[in-house]
Amino acid sequence: MSNNIESVLKEDRVFAPAEAFSSAAHVKSMEEYEELHRQSIEDPETWWASQADALHWQQRWEQTLDWSEAPFAKWFVGGKLNACENCLDRHVREGRGDQVAIHFVGEPGDTRDVTYNELLGRTCAFANALKDQGIKAGDRVLIYLPMIPEAAIAMLACARIGAVHSVIFGGFSANSIKDRLEDSKATAVITADGGWRRGSIVPLKANVDEALEGENTIEKVIVLERCSNEVTMTEGRDIWWHDATEHMTDECPAEAFDAEHPLFILYTSGSTGKPKGILHTTGGYLTGTGSTFKYIFDHQQDDVYWCTADVGWITGHSYIVYGPMVNGATQVMYEGAPNFPDWNRFWEIVETYKVSIFYTAPTAIRAFIKAGDEHVEKHDLSSLRLLGSVGEPINPEAWMWYYEKIGGSRCPIVDTWWQTETGAIMISPLPGATPLKPGTATRPFLGIDAAILDETGQECGPNEGGKLVVRQPWPSMLRTIYGDDQRYKDTYWNEYEGIYLAGDGARTDDDGFFWIVGRLDDVLNVSGHRLGTAEVESALVSHDAVAESAVVGKPHDIKGQAVVAFVTLKEGIDGTPDLNKELRNHVGAEIGAIAKPDEIRFTPALPKTRSGKIMRRLLKEIVATGKVSGDVTTLEDKKIVDALIASGENGNG
Ligand code: WTA
Repeated sequence: MSNNIESVLKEDRVFAPAEAFSSAAHVKSMEEYEELHRQSIEDPETWWASQADALHWQQRWEQTLDWSEAPFAKWFVGGKLNACENCLDRHVREGRGDQVAIHFVGEPGDTRDVTYNELLGRTCAFANALKDQGIKAGDRVLIYLPMIPEAAIAMLACARIGAVHSVIFGGFSANSIKDRLEDSKATAVITADGGWRRGSIVPLKANVDEALEGENTIEKVIVLERCSNEVTMTEGRDIWWHDATEHMTDECPAEAFDAEHPLFILYTSGSTGKPKGILHTTGGYLTGTGSTFKYIFDHQQDDVYWCTADVGWITGHSYIVYGPMVNGATQVMYEGAPNFPDWNRFWEIVETYKVSIFYTAPTAIRAFIKAGDEHVEKHDLSSLRLLGSVGEPINPEAWMWYYEKIGGSRCPIVDTWWQTETGAIMISPLPGATPLKPGTATRPFLGIDAAILDETGQECGPNEGGKLVVRQPWPSMLRTIYGDDQRYKDTYWNEYEGIYLAGDGARTDDDGFFWIVGRLDDVLNVSGHRLGTAEVESALVSHDAVAESAVVGKPHDIKGQAVVAFVTLKEGIDGTPDLNKELRNHVGAEIGAIAKPDEIRFTPALPKTRSGKIMRRLLKEIVATGKVSGDVTTLEDKKIVDALIASGENGNG
């Protein structure tokens, strides 16, 4: 394979890895990948056992996989380990205690470097504080913090004592906290007075207080001082982080937990009802995140890694906390918005800390393209050697910009496909091996048996669209939906017997590379984050003025998809611009700002089939093209189409 860039047709651009990169990489050629992948699929247990061996086990497992109660997997049966010990103690013991774990950059410009020594000491002290507050193994703890090192400390401290963390994204509202609390029956919350976002303070503690009004299971709220904004402390329930840790020693034994001990619950959107609590366990999750981090980011000891995600999402769990820390990486953590105080922020950080691996989302890349190249060109980005993308398909044009402007046409891009449910990256290039094509996540990772199936369960041929599945269990797979085994089976395992259904549409090309087309269900992807249309609809209908609503996505230059809500109002209520604004804010308060509809269209009725199902296909077409060309024979009332089209033109949107 030549190292030259072959430019054939626009869509056929192929970028082979550079010789210098390949020769130093963990996997050095496509032949090596093909061989490893073939073996790993024929005998996944041997492959995954070899990866689990990279962890520190207090007791080795007896059985690599127990799939006898499929789809409920048990990995590394009989093994015992401590996730926190694997992330921290091990590196200190091996003499890397003085190495920086986190270069922290706060939004106001404050910076701190936290070494592995310090991270371990502070995590142990906080773990002792948690115990002192009565929190024990198996208890659920909500974490609602800004992007600061204490977020990682809180997660790792829970892991150390076997408490199950459930991180809530700091952009979510009080109602979202309440939903997660009710589902998880957590007994404690770890939060901060506030967090910085675009120069203002997000009132985290006040949101928690609102969520905790009325009856609930919370006994303790631990509050970190970050912004020094005023907060109300409830006697007996609330305690400052610094007071809770004051008399705690920085030694806390790393107790051994079962490989299948729950590590965390992370809520994500589904197509119906409330968010699903995705449950991940210890040994398999660490094996998956640790090995993918090593191979896909081609991590080497002198790398400075930066993932711009928030710890509130799975990317932050797997590729800020667990994956990098299992590998003893040095990373940058940034608290705030990419464009605060201006669009230079990210590139200034890359330059200052000599970041070598940079992992972000297509929505951020598109925002930077729009902001103009001058913010990028001012900075020396020559430290970068690898780029990554996650969250949604990256458009080839955005890929090219990322490759040329950020990567200096020198850095491979790993376009990584995965999900909250998969725990770790599933489809991605291996940067020293895989020839890159803009827009495709390329090939499955080692040990991952991904395929595309048609309605009948047959494997699709090249360039035939179908459903993306995984045919064999993998260690970092979700174990269930918390408290709802039936929903777990129905959502992921019902379509094809014994096969995991990802819920994405995809095709392979002539080289067997996977192209992800998007979601098959009613889940939107807004700025790389999953939003269930049903959640936004429920939020709208909870407003007094609303009778019914249907939410669809509309293609959007930067966000990928914008949220468009069709709303029918109750009898006698007028769809005024003021009400429009009020409804948007109502959704913001119910779920969080990311769910606020970009457009609300008032309409006298929604398009329904005779059986009463809302015809979303038709709504999607209307918002995308302004007309309806498809089949409307199943539509109950055909006159409604004109009113729906007009709803976008009459200025009430
Ligand atoms: C989408 C984020 C195309 C996909 C890690 C998936 C992607 C959903 C990619 C999961 C990618 C994520 N190319 N689509 N590289 N990465 N997706 O749970 O639809 O927030 O099912 O996990 O994002 O979103 P989640």
